[in-house]
Amino acid sequence: MSAVLVCFEPSCRATYSTSEVIYNCPKCGGLLEAQIDYDLEAAKQWKDVWRRRRMSNAPLDQSGVWRYREMLDLFGGGFENVVTLREGNTPLLNAPKAADYAGIDRLVFKHQGFNPTGSFKDNGMTCGVAQAVKLGMKRVACVSTGNTSASMAAYSSAAGLDPIIFIPNGNISYGKLAQALEYGARTLQVEANFDEILALVRVLAERLGIYLLNSINPFRIEGQKSIVIEMLDQRDWSVPDWIVLPGGNLGNTSAFGKALRELLTLGFINKLPKLAVIQAAGSSPFYDYMRQQDRSQFPAVKKPETLATAIKIGDPVSYPKALHEVTTTAGIVEKATEQEIADSKAIIGLCGIGSEPASAATLAGIKKLRAQGVIGASDEVVAVLTGNVLKDPDYIYRYHTGQLDDPHGARIVSTFGNRPIVTPNDADHIARLLGS
Ligand code: F0G
Repeated sequence: MSAVLVCFEPSCRATYSTSEVIYNCPKCGGLLEAQIDYDLEAAKQWKDVWRRRRMSNAPLDQSGVWRYREMLDLFGGGFENVVTLREGNTPLLNAPKAADYAGIDRLVFKHQGFNPTGSFKDNGMTCGVAQAVKLGMKRVACVSTGNTSASMAAYSSAAGLDPIIFIPNGNISYGKLAQALEYGARTLQVEANFDEILALVRVLAERLGIYLLNSINPFRIEGQKSIVIEMLDQRDWSVPDWIVLPGGNLGNTSAFGKALRELLTLGFINKLPKLAVIQAAGSSPFYDYMRQQDRSQFPAVKKPETLATAIKIGDPVSYPKALHEVTTTAGIVEKATEQEIADSKAIIGLCGIGSEPASAATLAGIKKLRAQGVIGASDEVVAVLTGNVLKDPDYIYRYHTGQLDDPHGARIVSTFGNRPIVTPNDADHIARLLGS
């Protein structure tokens, strides 16, 4: 099988070798997408091959990304550059309390927070870093709201590369910043927001010959396809009605749609689920865009705001791809307020599952879409929790103790608050407190 990079713009469709260091189409500036020339005859065996690999002790087979390597065959000759931390392998978890809360019969979470660095970024990063090694790049960089940087730091350090991270000063959670430091990344805190820093990093990457590992990098998107491939494999290829995910820079939306289109072409599924993308209300340009009649202008938000810092992005680079994927799947974009996200997050916690704030936008969105009659009570829904509960403990403590304020200073109501109780070291007192 061979692979090329193709310009995503329908009017251009220029193709490039996968060994070129490019992030946008040199001809028209469009986004790039990897295109694998699949061998449809050989593909008939893949479902069985993938199942058998679950029994294997080989590192690539144990990876929930590289187990599906026939669909990630971009490197032109082998997978020897791959560094795996056994990413993927994330569970489908049934969540009856969350289903109840949203008003649907059944809800399943695919929890990407079970990944080595605690977020879905690992699925894409193992692929992006393999490409960096293949290209002979020594330094890699990204701008991040925290998870990409944690993941890039881990994978590039594991691969012997030099990771350089750019983050919006004061705007990422300590859990994520701590990971970047621990995994040995040079970490630059820039006095600007995500969108502004992305523009800066693109200039620096070019000038200094640093490989860019943001989701504009098409190899990251290829790796993230495995989230959907694994999900459907775990469901024995039964397609749900809805796949719901949070939207920030919209790389994941692009990856999910691409995976679904390819699985359909390969005959592994016989229909497409609808993609529902949920944004935080204060950072929801894609929501606005999808409601515009005229799609020629993207309504970027100059000062995005949300406590769900992972998705605090006002000018998502991958919106043309996301538009295509949401439209192709007859999907929808919704937005959720800070209060809705906070309460949904607490409900996910009460399921014994937990997630970071951005992930909880999914449940908030499902509840809204159910109330509008868009999602039916008996629809099969899989929501993707993108990050681990411990990514942002400060948010959790504030919510449960009634100290969480939205970006405008308005207090979030601790609807499902659970305060810790201070007590003297006195058995009688504690017995009274707990009741008989
Ligand atoms: N959920 C979490 C936990 C994230 O970290 C992100 C993105 C998203 C959802 C949105 O995904 O950008 O593909 O639409 N985080 C990036 C980062 C931007 O830098 O870690 P998206």
